[in-house]
Amino acid sequence: MTGKNMWIFLAALIGWLYLIGVFRVRRPGEPPLDKGFIPWLGHVLEFRRNTLQFLERMRKKHGDVFTIQLGGFYVTFLQDPLSFGTFFKESREKLDFRKFAQHLVRRVFGYETIEDDHRILQMANNKHLMGDGLEVMTQAMMANLQNLMLHNNTDSCAKESAWTEDGLFMYSYNIVFRAGYLALYGNKDRDESEALFYEFRKYDQLFPDLAYGVLPPKKRVDARRLMEFFWESLSLQKLRTKDSVSGWIWDIQRGKEEMGLSEEMINRYMFTILWASQGNTGPSSFWLLFYLMRYPEALAAVKGEVDTVLRENGQKIQRGGPLINLTRTMLTQTPVLDSAVEETLRLTAAPLLTRAVLQDITLKMADGREYLIRKGDRMAMFPYSSVHIDPDIHPEPRSFKYDRFLNPDGSKKTTFYKAGKKVKYYTMPWGSGVSKCPGRFFATNELKQFIFLMVAYYDFELLNPNEEVPELNQTRWGFGTMHPTRDVRTIMFQKKKHK
Ligand SMILES: *[C@@H]1O[C@H](CO)[C@@H](O)[C@H](O)[C@H]1NC(C)=O
Ligand SMILES: *[C@@H]1O[C@H](CO)[C@@H](O)[C@H](O)[C@H]1NC(C)=O
Ligand SMILES: *[C@@H]1O[C@H](CO)[C@@H](O)[C@H](O)[C@H]1NC(C)=O
Repeated sequence: MTGKNMWIFLAALIGWLYLIGVFRVRRPGEPPLDKGFIPWLGHVLEFRRNTLQFLERMRKKHGDVFTIQLGGFYVTFLQDPLSFGTFFKESREKLDFRKFAQHLVRRVFGYETIEDDHRILQMANNKHLMGDGLEVMTQAMMANLQNLMLHNNTDSCAKESAWTEDGLFMYSYNIVFRAGYLALYGNKDRDESEALFYEFRKYDQLFPDLAYGVLPPKKRVDARRLMEFFWESLSLQKLRTKDSVSGWIWDIQRGKEEMGLSEEMINRYMFTILWASQGNTGPSSFWLLFYLMRYPEALAAVKGEVDTVLRENGQKIQRGGPLINLTRTMLTQTPVLDSAVEETLRLTAAPLLTRAVLQDITLKMADGREYLIRKGDRMAMFPYSSVHIDPDIHPEPRSFKYDRFLNPDGSKKTTFYKAGKKVKYYTMPWGSGVSKCPGRFFATNELKQFIFLMVAYYDFELLNPNEEVPELNQTRWGFGTMHPTRDVRTIMFQKKKHK
């Protein structure tokens, strides 16, 4: 190497080392910096292996604000719930959610975002997935749920009643996914929804590694094949042949078309919203049913409430009689079930909230501390560890208490404290601020409908009454509702046969 080339090489090397962050040092006023031992990658392997455990370790070492290196990014974690307010109030010019989401959506769904995505989705959601608009969706969902729950096995019609034994996770996920899918994307064929669920589960397994970009090549081929399967299955061409596709889907389609988006991209978007709308409700239903069975006093309380709501609305379950008509109004009369839902999500929903830092900012903490955060970094929060299982906010945080979110007078409890101060964000299963899950009303409704109908139509119990709570699959932290590492055998008994 000549002297000149040598200098060019060294300059390039230094430039590269600089880019991968080797020379970064903590500046005065910045949070503690922990780069890990591996250049560029930093802590990403330990982070991926078990996000919760890793963040707890970092918090013990550095306190409730720290910056870590993760796969080329410097991410500052804010773990003090009393300071979340300032984080959410920062303007979009400073902390941006979409840039990060765009990148993810391209990688996992093959969809290229456009500027108006958010506006179109918001309009469709406001019209169909919340408030009075939810009435129509609730009816569609209810019809599909009852159809799948009560008329699955035609052979057993002859029998008076039958016990069935099933894996609870697969049973719940299957029914809730398919009913939601049929309610949103239209009714045609039950076998088709079964096949779709089967493929969805495969994609579901690949999803965490796909999102982090660490899927091995062979599995990347599988993921691509699955994506293509969904783009095709949910294509506009297919939807046009179906009955009763929801207004939500058509409004989104129209909005995108008006923005000049190609049909191919709209098809890809249909997959994005299938995942967003159906990926978490099934697993959440599993956990809720499981906890109810595991804690008989919780099940008794929910059963009591279901009976009361039915009676007060002049309905009952009769052999050979009409199906119950579970309306949206009835679903607003269930404070006990609401609390059990909230408690289930507290224990099992674990989103990671991430923002891109677009300008240097000063993070102001509730206790007066201030930290400088650099432009180009990221900021993140993981409410599961900083809020959901904080024993100060939720005493005995690992136990399921169905009435944790109820006041003694039976109303919804919303006052929780940390260090004597009221905590505004006492659970965050849906994220918060601008990235708060826009489908949360619909999703909660789906979950409550399924549980309500199960309690109304079935008796169910764990095959093993002393069943331990299954472990959470540690590789899925940060992706919404956690999955169990194993299924749980359950016995179900339909109380009174219909038709
Ligand atoms: C429907 O019935 C089949 C066969 O009886 C069973 O394998 C499957 O799990 C059932 N599906 C649901 C959603 O109950
Ligand atoms: C945990 O989740 C990962 C990613 O979805 C999956 O590949 C793995 O099989 C799961 N492990 C268990 C024990 O279910
Ligand atoms: C259920 O009740 C709602 C509201 O009263 C009504 O609009 C709807 O038609 C009913 N559905 C069925 C299937 O009876």
